[in-house]
Amino acid sequence: LVSGQLAGQHWLVSAGPTREAIDPVRYVSNHSSGKMGYAIAAALRDAGAQVTLVSGPTTLDCPDGIERVAVNSALEMLAACQAVNPDGFIACAAVADFRPAMAAEHKLKKGQGDLNDVHWVENPDIVAAVAGAKRRPRWVIGFAAETENAIDNARAKRIRKGLDAILANTVGDNQAFGTDDNHLHWIDAHGDTDLGHAPKRVLAEALVRRIIDLAKE
Ligand code: C5P
Repeated sequence: LVSGQLAGQHWLVSAGPTREAIDPVRYVSNHSSGKMGYAIAAALRDAGAQVTLVSGPTTLDCPDGIERVAVNSALEMLAACQAVNPDGFIACAAVADFRPAMAAEHKLKKGQGDLNDVHWVENPDIVAAVAGAKRRPRWVIGFAAETENAIDNARAKRIRKGLDAILANTVGDNQAFGTDDNHLHWIDAHGDTDLGHAPKRVLAEALVRRIIDLAKE
């Protein structure tokens, strides 16, 4: 359906969770499976784009014809995303909001201090950094996983982060994280469109169709 329409364009997709090391054997992470981002990467490829997929740890195979850059932490993901100079960026990764300021050199032991001694600092906002960069990609698109008021919160988030569009989805109650289905709303400066409830692969195609329309504006 969308074959060839993104030929000549380079798209960057971030996907999956990040892992923030506490010590050599422990980390903080989240339940992101990476499925949505991987499906988007494949749909962009099918539309003819060159695709770089910056991925946190997942169990998924890299789709054919896509260059995958594997990362662990948010700081690694930021560096990997900033190393690419794409036409468009879709930030689908579930980046950990906080990281230990310093990972302990040795495994923390019971009886010697406790986890409250770990000092937490905020991670950089990768999509906002890319959207605000001097060499900004022409299109920057984010996701907003919300447990309530998904659309209103996503609208505000789109503007705050300087994004061309944002995809709102509701999480919690077994929705979105790890599942094969999702429900997405596309929100841009003109308004919003319900892309419906469907398998992530189908939603990824609907999203790429929106991107093709956006690229024509
Ligand atoms: O602020 P929130 O985490 O809800 O924003 C979600 C969007 O921002 C997603 O597109 C996500 O990939 C991106 N994000 C990011 N870096 C962060 C946090 C979120 O790129 N540190």
